[in-house]
Amino acid sequence: MTSFKEDVLSRRTFAIISHPDAGKTTMTEKLLLFGGAIRDAGTVKGKKSGKFATSDWMEIEKQRGISVTSSVMQFAYKDFNVNILDTPGHQDFSEDTYRTLMAVDSAVMIVDAAKGIEAQTLKLFKVCRMRGIPIFTFINKLDRQGKMPLELLEELEEVLGIQSYPMNWPIGMGKEFFGIYDRYNKRVEQFRTEEADRFLSLDADGHIAADHPIKQTSHYIEAMDDIMLLEEAGNDFSREKIDSGELSPVFFGSALTNFGVQTFLETYLQFAPAPQPRTADIGEIDPLNEQFSGFIFKIQANMNPAHRDRIAFLRICSGKFERGMAVTLARTGKTTKVSQSTQFLADDRSTVNEAVSGDIIGLYDTGNYQIGDTITAGKPIFQYEKLPQFTPELFVKVAAKNVMKQKSFHKGIDQLVQEGAIQLYKTVRTEEYILGAVGQLQFEVFEHRMIGEYNSEVRMESIGSKIARWVENEEDIKDSMSSSRSTLVRDRAGKLVFLFENDFALRWFQDKHENIRLYNLMG
Ligand code: G4P
Repeated sequence: MTSFKEDVLSRRTFAIISHPDAGKTTMTEKLLLFGGAIRDAGTVKGKKSGKFATSDWMEIEKQRGISVTSSVMQFAYKDFNVNILDTPGHQDFSEDTYRTLMAVDSAVMIVDAAKGIEAQTLKLFKVCRMRGIPIFTFINKLDRQGKMPLELLEELEEVLGIQSYPMNWPIGMGKEFFGIYDRYNKRVEQFRTEEADRFLSLDADGHIAADHPIKQTSHYIEAMDDIMLLEEAGNDFSREKIDSGELSPVFFGSALTNFGVQTFLETYLQFAPAPQPRTADIGEIDPLNEQFSGFIFKIQANMNPAHRDRIAFLRICSGKFERGMAVTLARTGKTTKVSQSTQFLADDRSTVNEAVSGDIIGLYDTGNYQIGDTITAGKPIFQYEKLPQFTPELFVKVAAKNVMKQKSFHKGIDQLVQEGAIQLYKTVRTEEYILGAVGQLQFEVFEHRMIGEYNSEVRMESIGSKIARWVENEEDIKDSMSSSRSTLVRDRAGKLVFLFENDFALRWFQDKHENIRLYNLMG
């Protein structure tokens, strides 16, 4: 039996941030294989394997092949209990993707060696950076020709503004990929070599044995030159800087061929943080505090269309969750017994009886929870810090198709907005409704749920992508500042927001109205 403290300290909760196609799914599958959570690779998402086709997610998700159950994956590896949170990307990119990053203690950034830092990686990186969480980098697809490793490090530092420390270094690449020089474990790991002689040890000078054929290659010589350069001019390894997210340990490998993944996992687990304290309105809450508490960072609707249930994803921040325990929702002060809860493991959902700080559990929800809600067991009752709002990028005008059904239209919009699924604005001049979202899928889910749950057909007209900027000095705003290229709207809290047509319109506005101070939300 392990103690509560040991249980908590064994948790590692992280998300993978990457641009679509960098290899997130492949990497996740390999990690799950090591953890014994799945038997075959190819089960993480339905997109390719189709294995989830019959499970019970909402229609729209079926069509797109997104797996709800892969939202959270848990597995044990050696003495660790690992929670991987999925960050939906591409078409499915949404505020949920950002909010998931609020629930983790560290992030793994996967970069395609041929492409370098891409747009979505940058967006997600910024959110991690804001939180100051450790970020570990895995540069993937070394079995293919990509950019030079030094060039990739430079990109990390220039584009992301983060220092890097390569834990290992590739010897060759693509067709001539020999393996990695493992600076940290002081060995060379050979590519496509049987287990027994996969690792080569180094002599006191950090070289492999003289008679080894790799040593004669220009790639080895080049790698050693690079490493010498890194020793002299590169960043020093610093545990403190890793912990504060200022320095990213970098690993090279190939997820598809399962090369460098285990080395990565083992080193990552050693350095990644256990559950961290969280700020609440009564001060910092330590994960080892025995009072159960947590916050909701995501609500997934209609996992089972037959019942209109929803699942609220809860990050446990302190204490131990036990099925049937009485919890209080801080926002309303209401206490209820939680009898139905789920924990997520690879491809099947199982009922959770116990979970501790760092774990993610799903609570069946009949409409009680909102994103950002805190629940606690016993006293004191407190509230975790508010989750940040993210700037939407896509906008649609929305109205009820049937004017006689305004009531259900408003009820639906109100609830879906409250849930955090979508943001609502009203144009100042004409009082039209505008919805804002981070990703296109949110509109489709909105439309689908308005019909399915509120019996309200909506008319939506895309107005495309806009740059939203909030106004600091509202008293200086004049009606005339609003135009078709800079639409003035109010958000749900009544704050004034400009929706600019594009970057050019934003700059033009700022030049013309220097006294107006604009600001951006996160994201
Ligand atoms: P994502 O979740 O980040 O979107 O990426 P995913 O893992 O689906 O990988 C995207 C593509 O890149 C896949 O190929 C995958 O096989 C490939 N890939 C991942 N890791 C590596 C690697 O280390 N080396 C090489 N060469 N390729 C890699 P695909 O053709 O799009 O899909 P599939 O039909 O092969 O599954």
